[in-house]
Amino acid sequence: MVVANKYVVVTPFVGTPKKTDFRIVEEELPALQDREFLAEAAYFSVDPYQRVKLGNQYPCDMIGGQIAIVTESKNPDYPVGVWVMGHFGWRTHTIVKPDEDKLHSQRPYLYKLPDFGDLPVTLGLGVCGRVGNTAYFGLTEICQPKIGDTVVVSAAAGAVGSHVGQIAKILGCRVIGFASTEEKCEWLVNELGFDSAGNYKTIDIAEFLKKNAPNGVDCYFDNVGGVISSIVMSHMNHYGKIAVCGAISSYNETDVGTSKALIVERYIVAKELKVEGFQVNRFADRSMEGIRQNLQWVKEGKLKYREHIFNGFDNAPEAFIGLFNGVNIGKTLVKI
Ligand SMILES: NC(=O)c1ccc[n+]([C@@H]2O[C@H](COP(=O)([O-])OP(=O)(O)OC[C@H]3O[C@@H](n4cnc5c(N)ncnc54)[C@H](OP(=O)(O)O)[C@@H]3O)[C@@H](O)[C@H]2O)c1
Repeated sequence: MVVANKYVVVTPFVGTPKKTDFRIVEEELPALQDREFLAEAAYFSVDPYQRVKLGNQYPCDMIGGQIAIVTESKNPDYPVGVWVMGHFGWRTHTIVKPDEDKLHSQRPYLYKLPDFGDLPVTLGLGVCGRVGNTAYFGLTEICQPKIGDTVVVSAAAGAVGSHVGQIAKILGCRVIGFASTEEKCEWLVNELGFDSAGNYKTIDIAEFLKKNAPNGVDCYFDNVGGVISSIVMSHMNHYGKIAVCGAISSYNETDVGTSKALIVERYIVAKELKVEGFQVNRFADRSMEGIRQNLQWVKEGKLKYREHIFNGFDNAPEAFIGLFNGVNIGKTLVKI
């Protein structure tokens, strides 16, 4: 009999998540039924959405994607030894029923990893997975930048942001990023080819934009919301486009509904901006297209990636909390 270890969230997060919000629970797994397989986790994905997308019932299993290997199978489509990406949550072993794929809210819920060649399977959670598709579809479909456009990215040294900026460069844009440390900003400019990057904790963002985007901002890929975003919006050009990907600056707020709102509507009206929120799930049916394109760019050396890997199942909460303190550069993962 296989015993899985899984993370349970004991009570709703209040403010920044804490290690004590989690408990590790053992679960005995039943024998496999026809068309099921057993997946053993190799890496957990650690993502900001896990902070805001848990349900209303507690305790509840921690959600999340993982890269896993098939170790037992009664499904010929998923033989032993195959690598999969699955939204199984933070658990070491999972009995998977592929036929129920479409029942899950997170899509795609399950797929066999494409052949990454010599590249690591971890790409399946980063540049060649959901994160990469968020960057690819969010920028190309929502912002639709043109050659020569000025593109601004917030949380630019994170998993999605660092990827967005590089695609914008591939597409011939001028790219400006915001991140919280000098080290992150240097990485963006010196290694990823951003035209400029500013430490939003120490600079005057408006002055920085006046200097580095003298002709205004055409596209804004917003990962954070709040003050940074309202300042960027005030520097948009007429008919500028804003892809609202996330609002991490507010995820740990306890009074989102009552806090005083920043007024951005005057910029939206005056500049006739197009502001569109999106979820990568919208592009689930095209996910292999995004993965293949990103993989090709990685292989061509046009797209660089960095992974922030925490070692060990026990360190998953620390990795998660780190997202909200800006500990990571690039994609955060946990090696099981
Ligand atoms: N719409 C979708 O389908 C979709 C899919 C994936 C991700 N997202 C969103 O995209 C954003 C980035 O996600 P990711 O996975 O790439 O995470 P990430 O950027 O790798 O990690 C989060 C980063 O957010 C920044 N941050 C944390 N607290 C902040 C605050 N109060 N103000 C400003 N920045 C803050 C930190 O960077 P600094 O150190 O630079 O502050 C941190 O490194 C998140 O908002 C996430 O929810 C959306």
